[in-house]
Amino acid sequence: MKKWMVLFLAAILTMGQLACKNESSENLPSAGEAALDRPEPTGSAVLEFISKRDDYRQWPLYPGKIVLSPGRHPHGSLLITYVSPNTLKALRNRTGRLPDGAILIKENYSRQKKLLSTTVMYRLEGYNPTGGDWFWLKISPNRLILEEGKVKECIECHRAVQNNDWIFSDSVE
Ligand code: HEC
Repeated sequence: MKKWMVLFLAAILTMGQLACKNESSENLPSAGEAALDRPEPTGSAVLEFISKRDDYRQWPLYPGKIVLSPGRHPHGSLLITYVSPNTLKALRNRTGRLPDGAILIKENYSRQKKLLSTTVMYRLEGYNPTGGDWFWLKISPNRLILEEGKVKECIECHRAVQNNDWIFSDSVE
């Protein structure tokens, strides 16, 4: 083979490899990047996101909380509060308002440690400015959607802590 042909083939191969590299890194975001995705504000899209695409049970707990920590009314006697990685980062940095795409998930258990329901807060900038731009979701233990969207009951109670970005668990600042 002539020298120029070898060089030509090598160049084509390198270009091919670079193209593949770009493609695969676009298709497979890292775990951190996946957390930046924004599901649509519907119960089914959020449920799909937190259970299949980004299983929330792998997420960190709300800082300072333990598994089955004693809970307050109306969320059951024992709670597990998970936060998405971008939420944890903001809480650690004490940035105040949590970022677009932040998700907090609370599993509500009875005193006998039976799962009663799961409640979710999902921040979507511009979604509901008078309600802190939170999308609310309540799901049953077998993952049926019980309540979703701009749920009056959730908003009215959490409004008490609107100065803390509508979060009860702990100071966000
Ligand atoms: C009567 C008041 C009240 C209502 C109604 C209520 N919550 Fe809460 N919520 C709380 C309190 C208090 C906490 C803190 C629980 C704890 O950690 O002890 C909390 C915590 C949470 C958290 C964890 C983040 C945080 O604020 O600490 C989520 C998520 C949540 N609630 C979702 C919901 C959803 C979804 C609804 C509606 C289906 C709802 N809540 C209705 C009082 C309420």
